[in-house]
Amino acid sequence: MGWNSWNAYGCNGLNETVVKSMADAFITTGMKDAGYQYVNLDDCWMDGRDSAGKLKASASKFPSGIGALAEYIHGKGLKIGIYETPNTKTCAGIYGGYTAGVGSVGHETTDAQTFASWGIDYLKYDKCQGQLSAFAVMRDALKATGRPIFYSINPGDQGPFCTPTNCSLNLPTIANMWRIGFDISAKWSEVIRLIDANKDQYSGAGPGHWNDPDMLEVGNGLNDTEGRAHFSMWAIMAAPLITGNDLTKMTAATKATLTNAEVIAVNQDPLGKQGRVVATPGTNLEVWSKEMSGTNTRAVALFNRDSASASITVQWSQIGLPAGAASVRDLWAAKDVGPSTGSYTAANVPSHSVVLLKIVSTP
Ligand code: GAL
Repeated sequence: MGWNSWNAYGCNGLNETVVKSMADAFITTGMKDAGYQYVNLDDCWMDGRDSAGKLKASASKFPSGIGALAEYIHGKGLKIGIYETPNTKTCAGIYGGYTAGVGSVGHETTDAQTFASWGIDYLKYDKCQGQLSAFAVMRDALKATGRPIFYSINPGDQGPFCTPTNCSLNLPTIANMWRIGFDISAKWSEVIRLIDANKDQYSGAGPGHWNDPDMLEVGNGLNDTEGRAHFSMWAIMAAPLITGNDLTKMTAATKATLTNAEVIAVNQDPLGKQGRVVATPGTNLEVWSKEMSGTNTRAVALFNRDSASASITVQWSQIGLPAGAASVRDLWAAKDVGPSTGSYTAANVPSHSVVLLKIVSTP
């Protein structure tokens, strides 16, 4: 759980002031208390290498240096993430003309040591062109530093994407999380595209190694209902919750979505299962289920992808619960709506929304 600069600030908007203000906002908005901990710099933080071959931060964007920024972030009880690529240029270097963006290929040991010396806790290693084999090289270089550095990779570039069911890499042995699709943007159709790309990948996810359908766009232009649906689906898919909005300017609705403790508990459940579709009771209607820790406990998403409202029913037989009574809690409403026997129906689920339930069989 964390924040990353790319979705809201892109290449040109990233700088030390922005990152510090996000770290401050983690505290003042309750994001830290809700569980968010990583404050991540994406592409465009750097300015090539010095004469010794060591990565340099851009002096105009980060006048105090990355080490000082890490100290600032650590001082707030948070962690800091950084960005590099397994190529000679970063992705903005290749596609965006950011010539100061140099990649880590051939410099893995030096760069991993630089990151460790700055106090970095998280690396996003993002392949634009380049070789898949380079991911293991950086994994080993990070390990050799002796500093725990969470390893998030993007093995896809423009595609085809590398997923647990379709990759020459054994992803869970390489990284802690891996992108399964091309970049998200703040549109409903994009949220749907990434949900569909992630749908069949559930077997690859587990504690310490997760499918990444990309960062969150809640608060970046989706309406509040769609933002809640987006967050609900990332929660039930056990997806990394890396926010991408300006945390200093959240509306009350955005903040309420991103900090909902009961929804976050679905995402962070220690069993680490990725939820999956168990029924499609109508056109554009889906029932998703995620096995949760605790006896006969499920999180269930009643997902209306359609343009009209609809009633959606989940049957206990679809989610592997015994017939009979179960308690049902509506997590967004924060209300117990059961007990219910054999099934539960949510009436009039609005278009582009999710009713998120926790269902526990009562013995
Ligand atoms: C893309 C990546 C984005 C962002 C961008 C930076 O390849 O998918 O999330 O990191 O590069 O240039």
